Formats: sequence, structure tokens, C-alpha cells
Amino acid sequence: MTGVLVMGAGSVGCYVGGLTQLAGVPVHFVGRPRVLAGLRRNGLRLTDQDGLDRSIPALELRLHDEPPAGLRPDLVLLCVKSGATAEAATALGLTLPQGTPVVSLQNGIGNADLARATTPQLHWHAGMVPFNVAELAPGHYHRGTGGALAVEASADDTALAAWQTALARIGMRLDLHANLAPVQWGKLLLNLNNPVNALSGRPLRDELLQRGYRRVLAALQEEALDLLDAAHRPVAQLTALPPRRLLALLRMPTLVFRLAAARMLRIDAKARSSMADDLAQGRTTEVDALCGEVVRLAESLHRAAPLNARMKALVQAWPQRRQAYSPDELLQALNLS
Ligand SMILES: NC(=O)c1ccc[n+]([C@@H]2O[C@H](COP(=O)([O-])OP(=O)(O)OC[C@H]3O[C@@H](n4cnc5c(N)ncnc54)[C@H](OP(=O)(O)O)[C@@H]3O)[C@@H](O)[C@H]2O)c1
Repeated sequence: MTGVLVMGAGSVGCYVGGLTQLAGVPVHFVGRPRVLAGLRRNGLRLTDQDGLDRSIPALELRLHDEPPAGLRPDLVLLCVKSGATAEAATALGLTLPQGTPVVSLQNGIGNADLARATTPQLHWHAGMVPFNVAELAPGHYHRGTGGALAVEASADDTALAAWQTALARIGMRLDLHANLAPVQWGKLLLNLNNPVNALSGRPLRDELLQRGYRRVLAALQEEALDLLDAAHRPVAQLTALPPRRLLALLRMPTLVFRLAAARMLRIDAKARSSMADDLAQGRTTEVDALCGEVVRLAESLHRAAPLNARMKALVQAWPQRRQAYSPDELLQALNLS
């Protein structure tokens, strides 16, 4: 590969882009001044829960505040949050050659479609990042959980196959899927924990060890699964248990859950969902791309998704409250107690 462009150098962009550069591919990072300043000062350091600790010196980083004119990357990674998709897609369309492949490494279901509708001259692929990445310090990004990247592409797609080979050199698996929708919905079900985690005010592990929060998560997932069944949409299994059996596990007493879900609980003690950081910093969250997507699925079936609708409203009302919910308060707010 001659070059990859990361659009939106944040947690996912710096981690996946950094791995790509460590695999020997030149990477250009487009990001905000705050992030770029950290990278210029400290270089890029990547660590993970399995002991990876690699650094790229600042002098070897290609950093830009907008997509550089004249660049012809083999592949672009779109790594902005959902609310920034249309603007970033437009900016890419203004500089990249027609047909340039772009992978949306974003959560939710509709980002690649939105980008395609905004900028149809580029070749959009849906993607999925299964693991959690956190910025531990300026320029330092840490992967706190595991799993393989996934992208919608045919097995003979040249750009994706080349990236797959490059990532394999650095130990990162990339799976290509003819249809990514089941994987995206499988990931969305798991991401329904993001608003629960954000409103709990606790690290992920602590939150999951409280049965009340797990009951809220199970109820949100069950509502989504019932709608997906009604819509005949298959859901990929991304955890050790199939989605329906996961509901039962989440609802178990914590003692049982702790034993049975040891793998799921293999999360760094301090890891939080990035939605928690968004709330803390007063930024727009991605709750509409998660709970909002379940509500839209319900509407398409002329049904309702009251729990996901309420969860979305609670997250959006955070600026008026600014106080974490205890498990009982959250159960009550969703009429689940
Ligand atoms: N972090 C994770 O663990 C994780 C895991 C799986 C999937 N994801 C998904 O991956 C996507 C990215 O998440 P993230 O956590 O990496 O977000 P992030 O840390 O906020 O990174 C995105 C960065 O892109 C910047 N940006 C937005 N528009 C831009 C533009 N036009 N030009 C240049 N930079 C721009 C953002 O700046 P502003 O803040 O100023 O907009 C931000 O610095 C989301 O859809 C998320 O759900 C995240």
C-alpha cells in the first residue's frame, strides 16, 4: 500500500491509523489542533491489554488539519463521531479523487449510507471496530478490550485485501463481510451499554458489576432484539453467548454474573465508554446513532421502542441534571423497578 488517510484523528483514528503505520504503510492523520498538538509534542504511543507498547516519533507522523490537496491514498478511514459524518464526508469529497475507497469505522448503522448520500463520488464501505480505545494522555491511545475489525467488502477488493494483509503483520485481524448489517446490529446491541455507562458515572467494569445497571441494559437490548426479529433482520453473535442468552446472563445475580462473564469483564479497571467523556465535556453524544436507531427501526414497523426512546431523552437531558444515576434511579426512570 502506498498510503492511508485517517479522517478524524481521535481514539479510533490514532489507534487504527497508528497500527497501520507500524505495519509499514505511510499514514496521513487529519485531526483537530488539540489532538495534533499532543502528537507533535509526544509522538504517538499505542498500548493494549495484551502488552503491546509501541511508539511512533513525532517526526515520523504526517499530520494535517484538513485533507491535504493532491493526496491519492489507497484507502481512507473515516473515524469521526456520527454527528460529524456529513461534514467530514463533504471535506473528503472536495479533495480526494473520484472512487477513492473510504471505510467508516464508526458505531451505529447508518454512517456509511449518510456519507454515501452526502458524497456519492467516493466508494464508501461500512466498518465496525469491536474494541474500546481510550486516550490515556495526549498522544497515548490504549486498547482496553479485544476483537477483530470488520468491513463490508468483497474478498477480492484490492484496497481492503492489501490493508488486511498489512494489519495481519502487526497482529490485528480484519474480517471482510459481504453484508455487514448483522455485525453492525450485533455491535449496536452491545453499544446500548454506552448510555447506561455514561449515566452511571462509573467505569465500565464497576457499572457492569451492578445488577440494576445490567437489568437496564438487558431491557434496552431485549426491546431492540424483539424489533429486529419482527423486521426479520439477522444479528451477528459478537460475544461468547448469543444475544438472547446474554440477556439472561445480564439479569443474573452479580455473584453468578461475575463468574459466568469473566471474559466480558476483562476490561481495564478505568475504561469508560466515550459517551461518558462526551457528557463530561459537554459534547454532543452518539445516543441518536444507538438508541435513536432502535426507535427508527420501531417506527419503520409502526411500533414503538419506549425504553430506547426514554434512554435517548435521559442522555439528551443530562446538561439539566449533571448528576449520575444510581442503579435504582435509572431503573425507575425507565419504569423498570
Ligand atoms: N473510542 C472507542 O472505543 C470506539 C470503539 C468503537 C467504535 N468507536 C466509534 O468510532 C467513531 C470515532 O470515535 P472516537 O472515540 O475515536 O472519537 P474521538 O476520539 O472523538 O475522535 C474523533 C476526532 O475527529 C475529530 N473530527 C471531527 N470532525 C473532523 C473533521 N472534519 N476534520 C478533522 N477532525 C475531525 C474530532 O474532533 P471534535 O471533537 O472537535 O469533533 C475528534 O477529535 C465513533 O463513531 C465511535 O462510536 C469508538
